Amino acid sequence: MIVSRDHIFKEGELKDKVILVTGANRGFGLAITMGLSKAGATVIMLGRDLGSLEHAYDAVVDAGYKEPILYPLDLEGATPENYQDLQDNVLEKFDKLDGLIHNAAILGAQMPIEQYDIKLWYSTLQINLSAPFMLTQFLIPALLKSDDARILFLSSSVGREARAYWGAYSVSKFGIEGFAKTLSEELEKTKISVNTVNPGKLRTEMRRTAYPAEDSSTVPLPEHKSSAIVYLLSSMSPKMNGEQLTIAD
Ligand SMILES: NC(=O)c1ccc[n+]([C@@H]2O[C@H](COP(=O)([O-])OP(=O)(O)OC[C@H]3O[C@@H](n4cnc5c(N)ncnc54)[C@H](OP(=O)(O)O)[C@@H]3O)[C@@H](O)[C@H]2O)c1
Repeated sequence: MIVSRDHIFKEGELKDKVILVTGANRGFGLAITMGLSKAGATVIMLGRDLGSLEHAYDAVVDAGYKEPILYPLDLEGATPENYQDLQDNVLEKFDKLDGLIHNAAILGAQMPIEQYDIKLWYSTLQINLSAPFMLTQFLIPALLKSDDARILFLSSSVGREARAYWGAYSVSKFGIEGFAKTLSEELEKTKISVNTVNPGKLRTEMRRTAYPAEDSSTVPLPEHKSSAIVYLLSSMSPKMNGEQLTIAD
């Protein structure tokens, strides 16, 4: 299903909502954070580098949007104990979670499987697939306390159709699609909805690394697509579950 990137929100559309975004310090994660905070949500900004998170926090606050919460965590090395601490913190501070956006990812290497670096394979699967599994597992209790909780997994065209040389990144996104589908079935009778979203082209570091010869001025800025995510987290969008969504270019 295609989601338009043009939406107009009423002031405070997401007031009283608490939404966690991974990789919120830069790229699409920061654009999503800005959009959600502008709509009045309290965003829990998860990222691996505190300095970079603080810089991003300043951008949100300087724009006059809802003050976010910073949560430094490296998704590659995070342990079940770290996720338990996160669950405890969220429940203690907010007593619920209304949204969980799995945005953080790494590209890994673009090369034949035959030559793929084994350590990089593990890192990519850890950050892009196993960390979202653990994060989701530990945050389900907080999501169940919301009247309308929405989980979104950032996917990719190479997570829906195979393309040579996209290696662990592609496999991790296929894994995310399968994980989201399984989870959506399990949570079908709850107030938590689970969907994947392919953002299409975004002018970020990941895109520049993947397509170094591309004229970046032809690629949409992340802030031009973030309103689609705000829409999907708001009651303006119909309740969907187990869908594969794509943001229009
Ligand atoms: N760009 C595109 O054209 C495109 C197309 C299709 C899908 N996507 C998907 O959209 C999402 C956002 O992509 P993007 O283009 O914004 O990527 P990006 O510019 O490379 O940003 C990736 C984000 O993930 C974070 N991250 C990486 N490893 C982490 C770790 N171990 N722990 C915590 N955070 C970590 C990065 O933090 P650091 O700053 O610390 O590295 C950064 O905030 C991804 O899921 C990507 O697969 C992007």
